[in-house]
Amino acid sequence: QGNFAQFKLVLLGESAVGKSSIVHRFVKNTFDDMRESTIGAAFLTQSITLPESKTTIKFEIWDTAGQERYKSLAPMYYRNANAALCVYDITSKASLIKAQDWIKELKKQAPEGIVISLVGNKSDLTENREVEEGEVDEYIRQMTEDGSVIITSECSAKTGDGVLDIFNKIGRALPVE
Ligand code: GTP
Ligand code: MG
Repeated sequence: QGNFAQFKLVLLGESAVGKSSIVHRFVKNTFDDMRESTIGAAFLTQSITLPESKTTIKFEIWDTAGQERYKSLAPMYYRNANAALCVYDITSKASLIKAQDWIKELKKQAPEGIVISLVGNKSDLTENREVEEGEVDEYIRQMTEDGSVIITSECSAKTGDGVLDIFNKIGRALPVE
């Protein structure tokens, strides 16, 4: 009963936007206020079952390091990825621009058909918000004129708000036979 599929997913984005925190919330349902910056990359797996189709999807997750000195490693991780989370921090406009740079690079270099998600993390920090919800809509419209798909969402790894939703949306967009 139900299908099973396995996909490779990579997280990209500036250091400290919360990539590892999103992954740990998703995989272990924990949050650490003092998480250490990732060195190189980390590998974790987690499965979800989509309620409507009863499809179980196993994500093989590569959590990359955002520090500039690791930038050249990224292609190793997105080269054969089925999905990518390009993460920014809603309190940092500069981090959004970095995430958009990653989308540009993925469109040039990543496998065709990769499911891309632009994720605004730290939605709990509303007082320090620098990127408004919906601010990226026009950008997304332009980037998807070629028929490609970019999923947008906000989440908080701290509260857990919206985290599972990101992976469910990606799961629904992935090709399961
Ligand atoms: P690199 O590994 O250096 O690329 O960073 P990263 O993107 O993996 O960031 P990380 O998950 O290590 O989080 C950086 C800091 O932001 C940590 O101190 C986290 O506690 C904090 N943080 C992450 N997510 C959230 C969030 O949703 N809300 C708040 N308030 N803080 C967060
Ligand atoms: Mg990290």
